[in-house]
Amino acid sequence: MFRFLPPQASTVAPKIDWIHNLITDLSVFFTVAICGAMLYFAIRYRKRNGVDHETPRIHGSSLLEVVWTVVPTLVCIFIAYYGVAIYHEMREVPADALTVNVTGKQWNWDFQYENGKKTHNEFVVPVGKTTKLVLTSSDVLHSFFIPNMRVKRDAVPGQYSYLAFTPVQSGEYQVYCTEYCGDSHSAMLAKLKVLPEAEYDRWYNDRSEEIRRAGMTPAQRGEKLYVESGCQGCHSLDGSPRVGPSWLKIYMRKGKLTDGAEYVADDNYLKESILYPNNKKPEGFANMNMPSFMGQLSDDDITDLISFMKTLKEAPAKPKADDAAKAKMSPVDHGKVLSAEKGCTGCHSIDGSKLVGPTWKGIYGKSGKLADGKEYVANDEYITHSIREPLSQVVEGYPPAMPAIYGPDSLSDADVKDIIEYMKTLK
Ligand code: CUA
Repeated sequence: MFRFLPPQASTVAPKIDWIHNLITDLSVFFTVAICGAMLYFAIRYRKRNGVDHETPRIHGSSLLEVVWTVVPTLVCIFIAYYGVAIYHEMREVPADALTVNVTGKQWNWDFQYENGKKTHNEFVVPVGKTTKLVLTSSDVLHSFFIPNMRVKRDAVPGQYSYLAFTPVQSGEYQVYCTEYCGDSHSAMLAKLKVLPEAEYDRWYNDRSEEIRRAGMTPAQRGEKLYVESGCQGCHSLDGSPRVGPSWLKIYMRKGKLTDGAEYVADDNYLKESILYPNNKKPEGFANMNMPSFMGQLSDDDITDLISFMKTLKEAPAKPKADDAAKAKMSPVDHGKVLSAEKGCTGCHSIDGSKLVGPTWKGIYGKSGKLADGKEYVANDEYITHSIREPLSQVVEGYPPAMPAIYGPDSLSDADVKDIIEYMKTLK
C-alpha cells in the first residue's frame, strides 16, 4: 500500500524503503483502526428516536491496558533499532571510497574531484563503487538531496558534512536543493550521472575540457562565468533592467552613485563592485542587495568577467519576427507585453495586492498622497513622470525602491503610452 517512492538506485535504498514502508503501513493501519472504531461506536451508540439510553458501567481491564502499552512499545523499539542500524551503515564509508567535494552556492552546485577535475551542476560517478560527497556552502544553508539514492544532507557554510552512497544502477538522476535558500532555490538543480566503471575512468581522465578552457580568450571565459556564477540572474545583457544594472555598455559607463558622487565603471570600480557590492551603488539601485563574490571568484575570474563586460557594446540582436508581431499588436496588448518584459509586474500587481510598489489595479485616475505630503492624481503626465523619474514622487507608504532606469533608451514615449493604455484596462 502507498508505494510512491522513486526507483531504487543505491545499495541502501531497499533497506530505507523497507523501514519507510513499514512505518507508513503501521500508521495507515492504526489510523484506519482507531478512526474506524470511533466512527463505528459513534453510529452504533447514537441517540435514537430522541431517547437517551443508559450504557453499562465498565471498569478497566488490566490485560487490555498491558497489551496496548507493551505492543506499541515493542513496535517503537523495533523501528528505532532498525532506523539506527541502517543509519550507521550509511555513515560508515569504506576507506577506498571515491571522494568528491561539493560546494553549494546561490544557486548552483559545484563539484571537484581528486585530480582537480571540476564540474558544474552535474557530476559523474562509477556504478558499484561507494562515493563520498563532502559538502559545504559558500553562502547560506543548502541541502543536497538525491531521491533515487535515498541520501540527503545539509550543506552548511563554514563547515563540512558528508554523505555516501553506492549506486547499483547506471543512469541519470536528479539532484535537488531541499533547503529554502532564496529566490532561485527551486532552480538549484544538478544531475548525477552513474556510468559503468570503464566509461567513468575514461571521463575522469579526459582533460579536453580543461585544455579547451585554457585555450579560451578571457572574454569567453568571462561569458562562461557570467552564467555559472549566477550573474545573469540579476544583470541582463540587452539593456533591460533586472534587480541590478544591465551589463550592456557597462564598461566605462559614467553616472551618479546613491550618495550623489560621480562614478566611472572602470576596472577598479567593477572589481570593487564584485567584491564589496554595496559600497558604491549606482543611483536608482539603492535597495539592491547584491551578495559579495569574495572567495568565490578569483582575481583571474574577475579579470575575465571584466574582459567580457568590455565586449558588451551592442544589445544582442532580437529576433525580427518578435518585432513584427509586436508591431501588429493593439496598444493595450503591447503595453501588457512590455510590462512583463521590463519587469514592472515583478513589483506591481494587477489584482490589487500590495507588492513592493502600488498595484496597477484601478491605478489610472487614482488620487492620493505622496511621501512628501503632496497630493497626486495618476493621470498620463503623472504616470509618465513616475516611470521616467520614479524617486521624485514616491507614493505614501511605499519604499523608494523603483530603479531609475526607464529612460527613453529603455522605453520610448510610445512604449510608455502603450503601458498607460494597458493600465486603463485594469479596473
Ligand atoms: Cu540551495 Cu535551496
